[in-house]
Amino acid sequence: MSGIYFHIPFCKQLCHYCAFHKSISLQAKNRMLNCLKKELADRRKYLEGKNIDSIYFGGGTPSVYSPKEIQSLIDEVARYFNINKNAEVTLEANPDDLSHDYLQALKESSVNRLSVGIQSFHDEDLILMNRRHTGEQAYSAIKRAQDYGFDNISVDQIYGVPGLTFEKWEENLKKVFELNIQHISSYHLMYDPNTVFTHKLKKGIIKEVDEDVSLAQYKLLISEAKKHGFLHYEISNFGKKGLESRHNSSYWQQKMYLGLGPSAHSYNINKREWNISDNLKYMKAVEEGEDYSEFEELSFNDRFNDYVLTSLRTMWGLNLDIVQSEFGAFYSKYCMEKAEKFIQSNDVRIENGHIILTDKGVFISNDVMSDFFFIEE
Ligand SMILES: C[S@@+](CC[C@H](N)C(=O)[O-])C[C@H]1O[C@@H](n2cnc3c(N)ncnc32)[C@H](O)[C@@H]1O
Ligand code: SF4
Repeated sequence: MSGIYFHIPFCKQLCHYCAFHKSISLQAKNRMLNCLKKELADRRKYLEGKNIDSIYFGGGTPSVYSPKEIQSLIDEVARYFNINKNAEVTLEANPDDLSHDYLQALKESSVNRLSVGIQSFHDEDLILMNRRHTGEQAYSAIKRAQDYGFDNISVDQIYGVPGLTFEKWEENLKKVFELNIQHISSYHLMYDPNTVFTHKLKKGIIKEVDEDVSLAQYKLLISEAKKHGFLHYEISNFGKKGLESRHNSSYWQQKMYLGLGPSAHSYNINKREWNISDNLKYMKAVEEGEDYSEFEELSFNDRFNDYVLTSLRTMWGLNLDIVQSEFGAFYSKYCMEKAEKFIQSNDVRIENGHIILTDKGVFISNDVMSDFFFIEE
């Protein structure tokens, strides 16, 4: 099974925390659409003979394109590949794009999953983040999508945000669970370089949230999600059983994927590739048949460390049989030795031949994963 990712590199407004590749000039929208189609045609050999299990429109803001334009990209995929009948087709959408007309038309398309950026239901947080919508608009957008029959909806929320008290976060969670959605991606705010938030932090205009507060927020998220029947299947992701994001799971389960559009990444076990993060250079290169990507051949050891990083993040954990068959006895023994001290400290457990983070271990996941990395002398 394989996935296709389209990066839609446009946003109508820049959020002050976000470092994803995007441009707020939408002038090149049509030209970009043609380039995405051409890139797909040019690079289809990458997944030759594979069935497509997931298509993901991420961004930026994919909902800057009309449902018809999105469908035209899906049709191109269908031209070259066999798309599984029950494939997951996700569109990341900003709440203020989800109007009645938009949703009605989208329901006619092959998109069967929505990922909506809510971030917070509190307007003062949304203003600080420079979002385009209010909390009420976000709430009603989800309700509207449900009214149009979307029954696989994910929302993004951010915690650890300056001004987001524990009580406000509690309210955000209460509202999100009220909505009866199927999936939640919830991220701790990251201060990425070249964002307004990082600039404000350096200038002392905003202050990082106390680690105790954000840890308490994460703990509340985990317990509330469990209480509402969600599986905590990856550090930042929670889904109803069977509705874990198939697209994201393919990253964590090391399946092959082809990423199209500026800044998109592709992966085929031995090689990681990434496209240039510049809309104009990308489009020019695609049109003129020039190079627009860089790649890294993965060494045996890189592949092992990738497997550690991606598998330990998930509730399925690191499969010792896979380590044994893909990397050999030395590495599986190495994993068992590494697991030892974390078993003692109750940060990992071993279950059916899988090394899995415990609820306690999830809070120090970065330390555990980096300890498992194999560093060549
Ligand atoms: C690539 S964005 C696209 C989503 C869509 N454009 C939107 O904003 O609704 C996916 C998600 O990443 C999260 N995100 C982006 N930058 C982040 C940061 N610096 N820290 C934490 N979460 C971040 C946000 O929750 C966002 O909804
Ligand atoms: S969070 Fe979404 S809308 Fe905001 S800048 Fe990032 S990609 Fe664009």
